[in-house]
Amino acid sequence: MALSVQRVLIGREAIARRVEEVGRQISMDLERQRAELEGRGEPVGPVVLVPVLTGALVFVSDLIRSMPVSMSIRPVTLSSYPGTATTSQGVTVQGGVPTDLRGARVLVVDDILDSGRTLGLLRRLIEAQQPQSVGIAVLLTKLKPSGRAEEVRVEYSCFEIGDEFVVGYGLDYDGLYRNLPYVAAMGEGPAAG
Ligand code: IMP
Ligand code: MG
Repeated sequence: MALSVQRVLIGREAIARRVEEVGRQISMDLERQRAELEGRGEPVGPVVLVPVLTGALVFVSDLIRSMPVSMSIRPVTLSSYPGTATTSQGVTVQGGVPTDLRGARVLVVDDILDSGRTLGLLRRLIEAQQPQSVGIAVLLTKLKPSGRAEEVRVEYSCFEIGDEFVVGYGLDYDGLYRNLPYVAAMGEGPAAG
């Protein structure tokens, strides 16, 4: 049976509140890091956000508006769920990973931590360039009772969800539903009214 949107998991207002809170937290941490570096007389690298497209499109655009921090934004395009697949099919890099991150304070922003392959690969590619620091922020962390394919350290996560396929607020199923203003679970059965 075809999959359809079954129920709202996280509503629009809850997302807005939490994303703003996390944006402020990240900004405070960056500010503290800057003060510590300056206190030690060390150079302070530029803040570079690396949103993973297309899924992080909505999340990052809300997140940055609660981050009063000087930053540049260098999106990267990766894909692991082609078409109607609902389990990771292996990660492919489709758009250039920024190559000039040496000395930068990098924050990778993604929609969801699932198998961990995407963020694991990206963290390795970025760390290889010797940035000053790397952090990862995700909207969702999928709890995996059976473990992830790759354990990845994520510094900021807005919400934890069960091991189910979700759409909305940037997340898609076969390219659709990214524009839903909430996060909803997909499943079999008639579409939710
Ligand atoms: P991972 O590499 O398995 O951690 O998957 C990461 C990518 O797969 C995410 O950035 C999403 O784009 C996509 N993904 C994982 N779980 C879901 C889901 O439940 N709904 C929609 N996309 C998902
Ligand atoms: Mg993605």
